[in-house]
Amino acid sequence: MKIFLIGYMGSGKSTVGKNLSEKLKLNFIDFDTYIEVKEKKPVSEIFEKQGEEKFRELEKKYLDEVIKNDDVVISLGGGTPCFNNNLETINKNGISVYLKMEVEALVKRLINAKRKRPLIKGMNEEDLKFFIEANLEKRNSFYNQSKHIVSAAKKSPGEIAEEIAKKII
Ligand code: S3P
Repeated sequence: MKIFLIGYMGSGKSTVGKNLSEKLKLNFIDFDTYIEVKEKKPVSEIFEKQGEEKFRELEKKYLDEVIKNDDVVISLGGGTPCFNNNLETINKNGISVYLKMEVEALVKRLINAKRKRPLIKGMNEEDLKFFIEANLEKRNSFYNQSKHIVSAAKKSPGEIAEEIAKKII
């Protein structure tokens, strides 16, 4: 079994993914970390030095690689399903689950977690809200093609993982 967790930055993909993998006795891969290990540098540095386009190329390359794993929960990056036909690859190879969160909740989560995230680095609360609103609207057309959609608001990672496990087993 291959489960892909999809969703915006700050929606809890990594924490929920880890929790879900333990519940289902599957392996866990955090895709951003996977890229960082392979490239031997942080995602923020790839963005800064090589640009977003290069990052999206690397994302595609490593998605094709990471997908060869089985019995695994893979927490993807927020942009992974939205570029280079990646969503098609994801849905062909496994079960996708969208952790859905509304803009207000994402702003609250991300205002204190911007430093490592190159797309929102240095934004104030107003800019961040504006950016997320516009960006999420575009991305939802991809995210909403996931096999399952789970509301991630006001729930603990354990509760979300439990809900996902019930849907897919
Ligand atoms: C990105 C999300 C990040 C990371 C990169 C780009 C995006 O992952 O892949 O900074 O485009 O939304 P998280 O969703 O894990 O923060």
